[in-house]
Amino acid sequence: MPPIRMVDLQRQHSSLREPIEAAVRQVLEDCDFVMGRAVAEFEAELSRYLGAGFAVGCGSGTDALRIALMALEIGPGDEVVTTPFTFAATVEAIVLQGARPVFADIDPRTYNLDPGRIEERITSRTKAILPVHLFGHPADMAPILALARERRLRVIEDAAQAVGARYRGQFAGTLGDIGCLSFYPAKHLGACGDAGALLANDPDLARKCRMISLHGADKRYRHEFLGLNSRLDSLQAAILKVKLSHLESWVERRIRIAEAYDRALETLQPTSPYRAPEVRHVYNQYSIRSPRRDRLAEFLRAGGVDCAIHYPLPLHLQPAYRRWAEGEGSFPHAEALAGEILSLPVYPELTSEETDRVADTVHAFWKS
Ligand SMILES: Cc1ncc(COP(=O)(O)O)c(C=O)c1O
Repeated sequence: MPPIRMVDLQRQHSSLREPIEAAVRQVLEDCDFVMGRAVAEFEAELSRYLGAGFAVGCGSGTDALRIALMALEIGPGDEVVTTPFTFAATVEAIVLQGARPVFADIDPRTYNLDPGRIEERITSRTKAILPVHLFGHPADMAPILALARERRLRVIEDAAQAVGARYRGQFAGTLGDIGCLSFYPAKHLGACGDAGALLANDPDLARKCRMISLHGADKRYRHEFLGLNSRLDSLQAAILKVKLSHLESWVERRIRIAEAYDRALETLQPTSPYRAPEVRHVYNQYSIRSPRRDRLAEFLRAGGVDCAIHYPLPLHLQPAYRRWAEGEGSFPHAEALAGEILSLPVYPELTSEETDRVADTVHAFWKS
């Protein structure tokens, strides 16, 4: 039996080969490679789908975070409260701006920033809160937004893993001041290379994000802000536009797979991922917890089922970032999770036979 991979981009591509090739051909014919028609069309469709005031394409999710911080004028001397349990890009962007990341521990059920632990981390230097909607489960935004309002802080959402997720009916990335999306190929709306976007409801903020992505310029050779070269490529935009029309059905399929895993693993000891009643979890990852994680991972791989550890070490213990934290033991929930988390394959093209095989292999581990 062929192994079950964590991600199989070829399956998705083979189902969309024709429309994607036609979209790419059109950009090649038009030769509008930078800020072309495809970019404007994709941005319009993305903002319509998400109910966001504005969507601004950019080079990657990492750039989106960087541009968001620049647009909110967060830099040296400022602090940003965020989670230690995320992909490095979240914190990398803060540090690259010269600001200080201030970690707050996670809620062990959702794996997201615990709103109850943010306030104690706020100082007179705090400028923003940066929640991450990890694995596609939105962070608990209502208390985060209330606290931000009360303390006059900005909220930047890292929705890199959560395109299509909803919190109390609203799409992730549209609740704070700025939302940051990633279209890295393995994300559930993935480009054929790097790409990202910013979401904002405030037209001035959206305009500023756009200008920053274009060297800080509003028109040629007039640079109002310090900026970057971080534009969404027309080829990627054309491809993303094709894929966006499939996103809802892909997300629904991910949810069905997650439900099947939930049912299959119900009686076992690994903890299935929690889903808060007020959210639509889009399962960018389906991540279980088990104290026997390493042996389970070995067993799965030996049985032809790939799996992955997102993430083996929280950021406050990473060599690059530990100078901004108090060391081991400071965020116990994040540290415990890093030792127990294991992601199983979840993507829309997985067949029911394959998801059964994944669940059967997990069962076989507990019987062994
Ligand atoms: C939570 C999170 N933030 C930011 C990023 C950065 O996105 P990109 O890879 O598009 O730069 C990622 C991507 O993997 C991510 O998972």
